[in-house]
Amino acid sequence: MQNALLDLSAHTVHLAGETDFASWRDAARRLALGGVRPEEVAWVVSGDGSPHPSPSSSGLSRGSIHAERLAAVANSRDKPEDDGRNAGPQLTVPREFVKRAEIVVCHNDPERFALLYRMLWRMRAEPALLKIASDPDVRRFEALEKAVGRDIHKMRAFVRFRKIGDGDDERYVAWFEPEHFIVERNAPFFVRRFTGMRWSILTPHLCAHWDTADLTFTPGADKRDAPAEDAAEELWQTYYQNIFNPARLKTKAMQKEMPKKYWRNLPEAPLIPRLVAGADAAAREMIEKMPTAPAPHHAKVQAKHWPTPREPAPSDDGAGARSIAELRKAAESCRRCPLWRDATQTVFGEGPEDATVVFVGEQPGDQEDLAGKPFVGPAGKVFDAVLDEAGVDRRKTYVTNAVKHFKFEPRGKRRIHSKPNAGEIQACRWWLDKELALTKPSLVVALGATAAQSLLGKAVPITKMRGQMIEREDGLRIFLTIHPSFILRIREAADKEAERERFLQDMLAVKKLMAT
Ligand code: URA
Repeated sequence: MQNALLDLSAHTVHLAGETDFASWRDAARRLALGGVRPEEVAWVVSGDGSPHPSPSSSGLSRGSIHAERLAAVANSRDKPEDDGRNAGPQLTVPREFVKRAEIVVCHNDPERFALLYRMLWRMRAEPALLKIASDPDVRRFEALEKAVGRDIHKMRAFVRFRKIGDGDDERYVAWFEPEHFIVERNAPFFVRRFTGMRWSILTPHLCAHWDTADLTFTPGADKRDAPAEDAAEELWQTYYQNIFNPARLKTKAMQKEMPKKYWRNLPEAPLIPRLVAGADAAAREMIEKMPTAPAPHHAKVQAKHWPTPREPAPSDDGAGARSIAELRKAAESCRRCPLWRDATQTVFGEGPEDATVVFVGEQPGDQEDLAGKPFVGPAGKVFDAVLDEAGVDRRKTYVTNAVKHFKFEPRGKRRIHSKPNAGEIQACRWWLDKELALTKPSLVVALGATAAQSLLGKAVPITKMRGQMIEREDGLRIFLTIHPSFILRIREAADKEAERERFLQDMLAVKKLMAT
């Protein structure tokens, strides 16, 4: 008997929107189980542009596949034709594929649904298909996924809100032109970032609106619907002028990262030519303003802890300390390694002694060395902001470093951070172990490779293992993540934003773990 499903025209799947992943998944599953080959299916987006996210993401209506076709396909599964096509394995699809396919669906390539179905079909016989990097389907899949990822990060970096209305009517509106269908996928990020603001992001395809309680979507808008200027613009320009780092200026990279198309919507765009033109002079001025070495009050502070700085170390090694305060006092005169010589002072951990979580950084930086407190400089600012966003109250945590003295190399008038070596990390572990013994946390977060090395006693590949928790032999749980200064070192705005987002995800995981 001729199988009706072999009729090409019978397999047109109507999706209700460009990102209607839920309908694609339902249809794909049924078609595959019904033995319908990829070349027999036409995927048609017939929605009006309204969003059709998966049910779990927002509860908005789902797209639909033509009901009769689905019924036919479902029936064929119940009574499979014995043409050999249904003899394949049951439909099990790697989770990783489903997760990544949800991203690929956001691409504007009209062939994406067909590509995904073809891959799903092939995966029944080739379960490791995703690992075959040379396969043309896999290559295309990866390219689409990457393009969507970049577009998502560009949107995060370049959306600029403009204020409209005052008082109860105050809201913020942005115009953005993404390349792909990323608005729904990206909207939760803006909700998290601007939770207390009422905002709308208008795009040609779809608009997202947040009223501080609900996220809603409406069809695409016209650029003329978005306000062009407002008072906050001046503020933003001042801010941008201040954060503009001439020493990092790479005009080509900047244009690549921030194509002209995005410049149009940025309030700071009129400033860019002037800032670029003055970059050399500004860079020189910035270098002049860098901290000096030794720091102005370095000698004074050092003298306080070291009345005669080159004398042998005092005998208190903190072994008998019964509190963090006593331990901190003992560490003031530490000379377990030579780093004490050039540093201004010991920068000890800080925070409540009964903290359930301890964050461990690498070593104090220039500003920490002067202030005598951990994480108060640029990396500390990133750390604070992300912790805040994740809902972790830093004041309830204990923050310390693997190495308690600033290690640097003088370069001109500047003190350039230098990585502590294994011996220095090992020497300073004395203090870290004692801090952990006194605070008895239920979770320790290693911020970066040095902290991980100190806590685990061996080097670990942080970028590979970040986001994971390791239980030490003594039962202590160590969560691995990057050091916040890693984010500061990334030049491209979109990549920086992406890394910050990953760090935020790690801190959200930490928050969850803190409760267990
Ligand atoms: N980096 C660290 O690891 N610790 C600090 O205290 C500051 C910067």
